[in-house]
Amino acid sequence: MSMVKFFYGDNVPLEMHKTRIVQKIYLQPIERRLQAIREAGYNTFLLKNKDLFLDMLTDSGVNAMSDKQQAAMLEADDSYAGSETFTKLEEKIKEIFGKEYFLPAHQGRACENIISQTYVKPGMIVPMNYHFTTSKAHVVLNGGSVEEIFTDEALKITSEQPFKGNMDIDKLRDLIKTNGADKIAFIRLEAGTNLIGGQPHSLENMREIRKVCDEYGLLLVYDASLLADNLYFIKTREEQCKDMSIREITRELADLADIIYFSARKLGCARGGGICTNSRDAYLKMRELVTLYEGFLTYGGMSVREIEAIAVGLEETMDINMINQGPQFIEYMVKELVERGIPVVTPAGGLGCHIDAMGFLDHVPQTEYPAGALAAAFYIVSGIRGMERGTLSEQRDEAGNEILSHMELLRLAMPRRVYSLSHVKYAVDRLTWLYENRHLIGGLKFVEEPSVLRFFFGRLETTNDWDVKLVEKFKADFGESL
Ligand code: F0G
Repeated sequence: MSMVKFFYGDNVPLEMHKTRIVQKIYLQPIERRLQAIREAGYNTFLLKNKDLFLDMLTDSGVNAMSDKQQAAMLEADDSYAGSETFTKLEEKIKEIFGKEYFLPAHQGRACENIISQTYVKPGMIVPMNYHFTTSKAHVVLNGGSVEEIFTDEALKITSEQPFKGNMDIDKLRDLIKTNGADKIAFIRLEAGTNLIGGQPHSLENMREIRKVCDEYGLLLVYDASLLADNLYFIKTREEQCKDMSIREITRELADLADIIYFSARKLGCARGGGICTNSRDAYLKMRELVTLYEGFLTYGGMSVREIEAIAVGLEETMDINMINQGPQFIEYMVKELVERGIPVVTPAGGLGCHIDAMGFLDHVPQTEYPAGALAAAFYIVSGIRGMERGTLSEQRDEAGNEILSHMELLRLAMPRRVYSLSHVKYAVDRLTWLYENRHLIGGLKFVEEPSVLRFFFGRLETTNDWDVKLVEKFKADFGESL
């Protein structure tokens, strides 16, 4: 993307790429969309692609690849052991992150499994700027617990704080003093903090965390899955970094971390993941788990074609005109929604546009899953699939009580370089209609509730026939079914 000045003055994000392969998509009539969401148990994870117009569920594994990535995939060197392709990625990791040792894994949560099994013992704590679903699940599975050390600004829907993903350093120190450093398994910092709206942390904040780690002899583990967005925000929002290149910022961040892991379904626009470190001790401890759970050390469960694509994708991530596409489209969408009075997380973050479901549906109690209800309603009226990021994405406590999440968000992810500005405008338009008709939307209740990661497979139903009323109003207003 590039900020090119338009003669007529509008601020339009302008793509620095062109499309050479396309995929046909369909907009099903609203009657079919209603049927489809019922078949999916009002859970957008269970919708089928044939019923989707825009898939804004996630940015994971669905980013557009470049011609150079596709070309590299043809050169992949396949073998169980010793693949040249793996060496290429290892070298690229060394060059960009300055880390000597690289352990491949099939995706981000596999890295979390390996790191948690290695470092989390029963009773231990992992402080984080905020949890992510799978990162928390692995810590808990190994008998540990998560403490979120976010700043007071982090959970405010509307804010001007540029780095809502920062850790509160005073709270971090207090936590370590209260529990003792030996109870801390490691500190986990997440780039582009997913569950609070893709909000970044600053370089300055990471430096402070490093100081605390050095003082108490603690490991700093960096989840770089959403690093691309965070790099863009550091470059554009952190005064002291505005003259640094993306490569320089990346290296500074990497030097502050003991262990970096990432989902290459996000970072590098391919599919896979990995862990890198300069500590031989950490490498040796984790290595056995890679061969046990992932595959041999020179592929770790990934296809060599994807490994080639990651190596090229990481290099392309060092280009500001590549990594700014997502954040600038999201910023455009957020601005349009704010102008229409629709409650949305500000400032605009990375990953996607995050609608505040508690503000949108202030008549739906949290126990009836407002973000889940909004995701279902939005699919019905637009054919767009978003993702619930609220109480449904939490897990009940041991006594079976609901844990109400801090925020109830409908996430509309923006896969990188996939959708056009007219797609974004369509999403804004249908959201605006839905907001004007929000009083029609009701809640959801579980019909089938899995005990672990229930948001993936859980099936729900509406608390009354609000979905039917919504469809009737849509047809009355638009005079047709699309
Ligand atoms: N860390 C962060 C910050 C993530 O956003 C994700 C995945 C993971 C780790 C796990 O990586 O999926 O490759 O196993 N986030 C996806 C999402 C699932 O849709 O937000 P993974």
